[in-house]
Amino acid sequence: MECMISKEPRLHRSLPHTHAQTEFKGSTHCRSQLQSSMASDHRLGALKAFDDTKAGVKGLVDAGATVVPLIFHHAPESLNDAPHHHDHQFAIPVIDLAGLATPSGRASAVGAVKAAAETVGFFQVVNHGVPEAAMSAMLAGLRNFIEEPVEAKAPYYTRDHGRRVRYQSNFDLFQSPAANWRDTLFMDMAPEPPAPEEIPPACRAVVPEFAGLVQRLGSTLLGLLSEALGLRRGHLEEDAACLEGLSLACHYYPTCPEPHLTLGTTKHSDPSFITVLLQDAVGGLQVLVVDDDKQNPAWVDVPAVAGALVVNVGDYLQLLSNDRFKSVEHRVVAKSAGPRVSVACFFRTDGSTRVLAPIVADGGNARYRNTTVDEMVRHYRAKGLDGVSSLQYVRI
Ligand code: OGA
Ligand code: NI
Repeated sequence: MECMISKEPRLHRSLPHTHAQTEFKGSTHCRSQLQSSMASDHRLGALKAFDDTKAGVKGLVDAGATVVPLIFHHAPESLNDAPHHHDHQFAIPVIDLAGLATPSGRASAVGAVKAAAETVGFFQVVNHGVPEAAMSAMLAGLRNFIEEPVEAKAPYYTRDHGRRVRYQSNFDLFQSPAANWRDTLFMDMAPEPPAPEEIPPACRAVVPEFAGLVQRLGSTLLGLLSEALGLRRGHLEEDAACLEGLSLACHYYPTCPEPHLTLGTTKHSDPSFITVLLQDAVGGLQVLVVDDDKQNPAWVDVPAVAGALVVNVGDYLQLLSNDRFKSVEHRVVAKSAGPRVSVACFFRTDGSTRVLAPIVADGGNARYRNTTVDEMVRHYRAKGLDGVSSLQYVRI
């Protein structure tokens, strides 16, 4: 008997035994594949039913969910893959960009950015030029949109990447092993912004302004990162086109009735050159930090610092830098507190067929084959957040 069945070990374990034992008399192997086939049919049905509501996780919470549905349950191994260190808050440096106009101020910022990019891959910036008012208006606009009735949001709900504005719960709902407790409004803002009427009214005024401010900060950060790689200031922006594209992932993490069973965002590294993240005060973002011997990974909180923006190296900059800069894995835990809102600003050009290749020679030892953002984004979407870095796909 042919068993063309996808693996679903966690759900398979949770199926009642007696059912399979009485109904299926085939080999143990096929019986377990049948069980897992039934489980994956059941899971697919549950995913479709959830997606068809177009109301996201917020809809479940509004309907009074007191338990986390099975499609959101993560395997214990992925929930507990490393200890959580409460006492390492300061592992993520906070860098002040106020002094960039003077040579010494700039040199010290380049040094701090270089040290962070080469190790933990994350830092926070203050005095970054994005006014507090624009940040709070962006978070409020996002929150207002997600908290609108489902009829107002449903027209924006889509999985069509051809649309520049996409509201959806879990971009990888049908690909990932377990769903996340999160809804997202995606907006591709550059190089081609959406028409104003494509942006939901709740955030129509603030989104283009916020995106413009983040692009200006992106230019500053790419200048510092270029120098940190020993390149001329304009290299990453002008020669490598890292500033050409900007996609916003505006996340809403509803309060969770059983936060120990699921995640807000599964462990991943980012599909970007760099990411600038605006988060509110709730917290929940954690970075997977390893010690100097590359041993003992631990989850470290990225605390909410008033007025700060979080910056991290993404996969494409790790590739361009030939592994000098680290695109570090991170996740968001689910919480009973909240809701939490955040805006992840990915510097990348969707669909770009420009060649991506290491630009830092390191004696001619390129660690990655040539690729494109288009190929990398396709790969990322096709596999979903499965805990495996996309860089494995292009590493030589
Ligand atoms: C992401 C991400 C973190 C957050 O969108 O890639 O890591 O705090 N978001 O929402
Ligand atoms: Ni991320």
